[in-house]
Amino acid sequence: MRIDVVTIFPGYFDALELSLLGKAKSRGLIDVRVHDLRDSAHDKHRTVDDTPAGGGAGMVMKPEPWGEALDGILEDADSGAGADPVIIFPSPAGEVFNQRMARELAEEKHLVFGCGRYEGIDQRVFDEYSARGRVRLVSIGDYVLNGGEVASIAMIEAIARLLPGVVGNPESLVEESHEEDGLLEYPSYTKPANWREREVPPILLSGNHAAIAKWRREQSIERTKRVRPELLPRELDEAPRGRHAAP
Ligand code: ADE
Repeated sequence: MRIDVVTIFPGYFDALELSLLGKAKSRGLIDVRVHDLRDSAHDKHRTVDDTPAGGGAGMVMKPEPWGEALDGILEDADSGAGADPVIIFPSPAGEVFNQRMARELAEEKHLVFGCGRYEGIDQRVFDEYSARGRVRLVSIGDYVLNGGEVASIAMIEAIARLLPGVVGNPESLVEESHEEDGLLEYPSYTKPANWREREVPPILLSGNHAAIAKWRREQSIERTKRVRPELLPRELDEAPRGRHAAP
């Protein structure tokens, strides 16, 4: 998979050199190219922002540097893999990222992340590239970050780890929270069996694989009910809440 990132802070993406993603990069499973938006700003100060039209606080990112940077990436994509990229603009105003979206985006050949800062990017940039191809405004949660960089890194990690060969043991992807049945993951333990008077649940040391599987599923259901009841599949919801009740 090819991933292009446009940002005024390329240094954030040094984090992608670490751990499994770093290995995936060096093995050629992901091809990450980070572009400094200021290279597409040609005045003396390499200006990327300006005051908002209509007044108000803060600054808005100017359309021209974005146009030049994204055109360059799209032209390069045309002459390269021929894939029709998805451009993702992280934004607290976007649709909320989840595991389903990660799986969907992991099927793509080419993703482009456009990291906005300040009060956002001039709306005409979204309009221009939406008219020319696939654009998604995506939030990683209901809170506000200083810009799209940290959100992009979170999404890139969630997507890239689903690519074949990135995570050593593909089975570990299946049992995780939000995969398969939509339940949260059960608690995990390792050795020693007793730590500070706290025991590993004896069932996990029983060697009875069916009983262990049953216990883990019960733990998943209990945790999901307690922490994220809205995720509980309908058939497991014994006490239907208002929205589940028959009309
Ligand atoms: N930029 C600022 N806050 C964000 C969020 N919650 N998700 C994605 N991008 C953002």
